This record gives sequence, structure tokens and C-alpha cells, in this order.
Amino acid sequence: MSFTVALNFADGASSFIQVKPGELLLDAALRQGISLPLDCREGVCGTCQGQCESGRYEQDYVDDEALSPRDLAERKVLACQTRVQSDASFYFDHAASLCHAAGPLRVSARVLAVEQVSASTAILHLCAGQHPQPLQYLPGQYARLKVPGSEQWRAYSFANLPNPGNRLQFLIRLLPDGAMSNYLRDGCQPGQLIELEAPMGSFYLREVRRPLVLVAGGTGLSAFLGMLDAMAERGGCGQPVRLFYGVNQEDDLCEQARLEGYKARIPGFDYTPVVSRPGDAWRGRAGYIPDHLDAQALAAQAFDMYLCGPPPMIEAVRGWLAGQALAEHQLYSEKFLQSGR
Ligand SMILES: Cc1cc2nc3c(=O)[nH]c(=O)nc-3n(C[C@H](O)[C@H](O)[C@H](O)COP(=O)(O)OP(=O)(O)OC[C@H]3O[C@@H](n4cnc5c(N)ncnc54)[C@H](O)[C@@H]3O)c2cc1C
Ligand code: FES
Repeated sequence: MSFTVALNFADGASSFIQVKPGELLLDAALRQGISLPLDCREGVCGTCQGQCESGRYEQDYVDDEALSPRDLAERKVLACQTRVQSDASFYFDHAASLCHAAGPLRVSARVLAVEQVSASTAILHLCAGQHPQPLQYLPGQYARLKVPGSEQWRAYSFANLPNPGNRLQFLIRLLPDGAMSNYLRDGCQPGQLIELEAPMGSFYLREVRRPLVLVAGGTGLSAFLGMLDAMAERGGCGQPVRLFYGVNQEDDLCEQARLEGYKARIPGFDYTPVVSRPGDAWRGRAGYIPDHLDAQALAAQAFDMYLCGPPPMIEAVRGWLAGQALAEHQLYSEKFLQSGR
């Protein structure tokens, strides 16, 4: 006996799979040639997220940072933790093509430089030049990097576009005491090798059909730099693009010149830095990002919103959105969950 399960994707494609009683949805899909995006397989990272449209299911472990109580009430699921109990249908908010790619590659990349770009942030420049083809990823997706000298892996969003020389950038927050942070601050030297696995995740820029609101918390900016590079290369996206960039203190802000540069290259682009704990000299926006979102403008016109950064920032914005009467909108998010949770 098995259950028939429909997997529906954002591009309108559907697949039907057979799921054995007790089998994990992710495993059943893989067994039938559909590699749903995944990372931890432990109900923690949220990468394999979908939504149940019909049918009964139960989930094993779901970390509350991966799916909030609101998500669970909306029948969001983690495919790596879901066991169906009837015929069912699930929706995955990404294109089906993401499941048919060859899957993540593991490559060695050489450190070119660690560039300190603000008090708390560095850009790690790598070159995976030994790999014969350009690494393929969508701006917004991420790579897993192995911390040299350890068995620990950390996730980082690409901060630039795929390119023939495989020169890769990652915008990384330097924590006071973290495995990768300590390595980048104290041990990292040009020429060293870092193992890397990519592409990962289902956060990427969908076809732009209506105004975009991008919300970055801290180094969540990384994913948007890649997306904005892509828009700039194409001379824009035909819609206004508004980026809100939240940091703790003004000296955490980085890549200001690059962001300013997009104003000339992407018609309708603007960005607003928001500092939660500014010093006396700060003359810009202060507080948290929801304090600065324009409810009137978001009620007047349909929009798409992309959120990337620490889970509390994402939940704060989602909470704010839930309390407003807004025009039709679609929300996409990438939570920077801590490793090993
Ligand atoms: C999909 C995804 C994409 C990500 N992309 C990026 C990215 O582009 N840039 C980036 O900087 N990070 C990103 N992260 C977070 C990143 O993977 C690491 O968790 C982070 O860099 C910490 O690694 P570490 O080894 O320095 O610290 P760890 O060794 O993991 O942690 C050291 C200590 O710091 C604490 N800690 C960990 N994270 C935080 C935090 N955010 N605030 C306060 N304390 C903390 C831990 O509890 C621990 O006590 C992403 C995470 C995910 C899941
Ligand atoms: S792969 Fe399912 S939550 Fe991480």
C-alpha cells in the first residue's frame, strides 16, 4: 500500500509520487527522481519547506525557528520531517527545475582575500578556478563552507553572480567567538583551501512582475547583492525596487558605494539604511525595519517582498505584515539560522 501525493511547484509544474506509509516525503520524492532542496535533513534549516494543500500528515521534529506557530497553523511543512497519512497535495514555492538540477557540487576553493568592510563584517573572496565549469547558482542561493581545520560547516549566501572564473564572494558577519568568525579573523590567509558545497536553498529572485520590497537584516544583504547585480546587468527589472537594510549600529553598514551604484544602474532602485542603536551623530532612520515600512503604499499596490537575515528580524516583519490591510503580495524569506541548533 502507498499514498499518492501531488507535488505542485510555483511555475505551475506538478509531479505525482507514491509515498509508503511511514516514509519521509523528502525520501519518497528522491526515490522517484525529485531532489527537493535540502540541507540539514534534521528539521532545523527550513530549506525543504512546503505547504500542505490537502490530506493528512504528521511531522517528526520541527525547530521553532524553521517554522513558527503561524507557519504550522498555515500547514507549512518540512519535507524532511513529514510523513503522510493519506493521499495528499503539497505546494513548494519555487520552480520545479530547482529539483531536477544535478544537485549540489562539492569543490575546493582558494582564498583570495578577506576584506573587512565594516566593524562587524567581512567579504570572503574565494576562487574555485580548479573547477572546469562556472559554478551554477541563482542569486539568493547559498553555499555551505567547511571551516578549515574542523568538521564544521556554515551556510553563506552568495554575494555575487556566477562567473566564468568562479570568483565567489560571501558577506560574513564576524561574531565575537564563532568557528568561522575566528577562522576569518585569526587564521585565514590567501592561498588556503576551503571546501564548499553549492548551490543550496530555494531563496532566489522570481520573475519580477510587480514592485519589489527587499528587506535585509545585517549580512542578509549578501543575498540581495547578487540579486541586485543581476538586475543591474539587465539594466533594471521594469519595476521599482526598494531595499531596507537594517543593522545594529551605523559602523555595521557596509557596501554603501555598491548600493549607491545600483541607483544609476537599476531604474527605480532606492535603499534605506535603518540603524537600531545609532550614535548621536546618526541622521538617518533609527529603530527597526517595520517602523519604516509604508503601510499606505503597501496597501495601494500589489508587491513582492523578499526577507533575508536573522530569524527575529524576519518574524518581526512578518508579524507587522499580518497586522496590516495590505494589497496582494507574495513573501519569500531566508532565515540565517545558527548552525548546529
Ligand atoms: C541559509 C543560511 C544562509 C546564511 N547566510 C549567511 C550570510 O550570507 N552571511 C552571514 O554572516 N551569515 C549567514 N548565515 C549564518 C551562518 O551560517 C553562521 O551561522 C554564522 O556566520 C555564525 O558562524 P560562526 O561559525 O562564526 O559562529 P558559530 O560557531 O556558529 O557560533 C558561535 C557563537 O555565536 C552565537 N551566534 C551564532 N549566530 C549568531 C547570531 N546571528 N547572533 C548572535 N550570536 C550568534 C552562537 O550561539 C554561538 O554561541 C546563514 C545561515 C543560513 C542557515
Ligand atoms: S533539510 Fe529539512 S529542515 Fe533542513
